[in-house]
Amino acid sequence: MTTVGKDIEKAASILRNGGLVSIPTETVYGLAANALDPEAVARIFEAKRRPTFDPLIIHIADTFSITDYARDIPLTAPLLMKEFWPGPLTLVLPKTEKVPDIVTSGLSTVALRMPAHKITQDLLKILNFPLAAPSANLFGKVSPTRPEHVIEQLSGKVDYVLDGGDSSVGLESTILGWKEEIPTIYRLGGITIEQIEEVIGPVEKQTHSSSNPVAPGMLTSHYAPGVRLIIGDPPDPLPGIGVLRFCEKLIDFPEDRQWLLSGEGDINEAAKNLFFMLRELDKLNLKEVYIELVPEEGLGMAINDRLRRASAENTQNN
Ligand code: TXA
Ligand code: MG
Repeated sequence: MTTVGKDIEKAASILRNGGLVSIPTETVYGLAANALDPEAVARIFEAKRRPTFDPLIIHIADTFSITDYARDIPLTAPLLMKEFWPGPLTLVLPKTEKVPDIVTSGLSTVALRMPAHKITQDLLKILNFPLAAPSANLFGKVSPTRPEHVIEQLSGKVDYVLDGGDSSVGLESTILGWKEEIPTIYRLGGITIEQIEEVIGPVEKQTHSSSNPVAPGMLTSHYAPGVRLIIGDPPDPLPGIGVLRFCEKLIDFPEDRQWLLSGEGDINEAAKNLFFMLRELDKLNLKEVYIELVPEEGLGMAINDRLRRASAENTQNN
């Protein structure tokens, strides 16, 4: 049975023995194992039924240890680390030999981030290895932002869930790498393009790919809840039809079948609520939910990215 608690020592001891612990981060909950132990990492892929071609992010305790796992670090990388670490930015860099191939799915690069959640920072500090962790959901499904979400999908498959409350950001980290020295965003997330460009100037964006994606988070259909999501205005308010909107309810649609990401129109709150609401909508046995995109700027771009993928037609096997 999977238990939930706040015992960092217990989590550390499970991880030292090659087990799996779900860790709280500011973005979403992760499913963590010792990143330097290939057998422990293999358990992650098995537990979330994730294809082994989809590489994992390594979570580190401090910026100094980056050179243990990454080499040929571009000059702009430390600027980003200084500004956004700890925080929701993942950097993709050429890997060192220390990083097992299973973590990177055989790629020559590794994804690294320093999470901003206090409990996970404390955990990382008492371990003498970093943690490989994808989001703690079944592959292709909505990421967890609360301990109970992890239990819903992974009970019995993870040894312990470290309870750190609700994830404060609620969207996964932004992923950035360098393609022929050009900084390139692979996944939109908790740090906005505008924030990044303020620090290092213009960046490229390569967040869509239907074949051979650099980051499978780029697959068109991902983050899929069970309920059928459709972007656009609802038809007549037939039974079984729901509506998810940014901040204002429709007047000509039943109130009790409408949900708002943020009544206040606060984009941070909307990001924080998004995955939670998709999960709740899933439980209501609705036939279809019509969704409104949020303003396409800042964090709104990352929210809309998730909404588009969650509503992409081909929702199987991603
Ligand atoms: O906020 C987050 O990033 C969360 C928390 C737990 O840290 N983690 C997370 O992991 O979202 P995951 O596995 O669900 O998504 C990681 C993404 C995947 O789309 C993967 O393909 C990409 O990172 N990735 C990992 N290594 C990569 C690499 N070397 N090059 C390109 N993309 C990579
Ligand atoms: Mg994920």
